[in-house]
Amino acid sequence: MILEDHVDIVNEDDVIAGRRKVRMLAAEIGFSPAEWAMLAAVITELSRNILDYAGRGEVLFHAIEDGGRRGIAVIARDHGPGIPNIKEALQASYSVAGGLGVGLRGVKGLMDSLEIISVPGKGTTVTARKWLS
Ligand SMILES: Nc1ncnc2c1ncn2[C@@H]1O[C@H](COP(=O)(O)OP(=O)(O)OP(=O)(O)O)[C@@H](O)[C@H]1O
Ligand SMILES: [Mg+2]
Repeated sequence: MILEDHVDIVNEDDVIAGRRKVRMLAAEIGFSPAEWAMLAAVITELSRNILDYAGRGEVLFHAIEDGGRRGIAVIARDHGPGIPNIKEALQASYSVAGGLGVGLRGVKGLMDSLEIISVPGKGTTVTARKWLS
């Protein structure tokens, strides 16, 4: 049973690989098909941001457990320019033209938690968690 996986994000094919892998892990953990699709959308958003703003990076996902509760953590990290204003990045209603257009704000809404650590000039790490209901 695979309980963790990761994909280096360098091009569009890697985004597709990330979608496939997160669906497989979500199925192992016990999420519903609707939730696999939601998690694939989250991976798409975070991977596109890596490609658009940092050029390259990686996404990791692993099973999590807390007092008998099970879930999944999704981590996207890069060594790009960083996000100068995280609050603004989460509030902004950006284009719906690119991809699904849910953006970071949409990811926050879809997941149970979202944490962004970003250091200007050093990079960005986004961690999102979703628990089984
Ligand atoms: N990995 C990252 N590195 C640097 N900046 C980022 C990163 N991810 C997001 N940002 C910044 O945060 C902003 C908000 O990101 P978000 O994904 O919500 O919207 P968007 O990428 O601008 O548009 P959309 O995702 O809707 O096409 C981006 O415009 C960008 O300035
Ligand atoms: Mg985006």
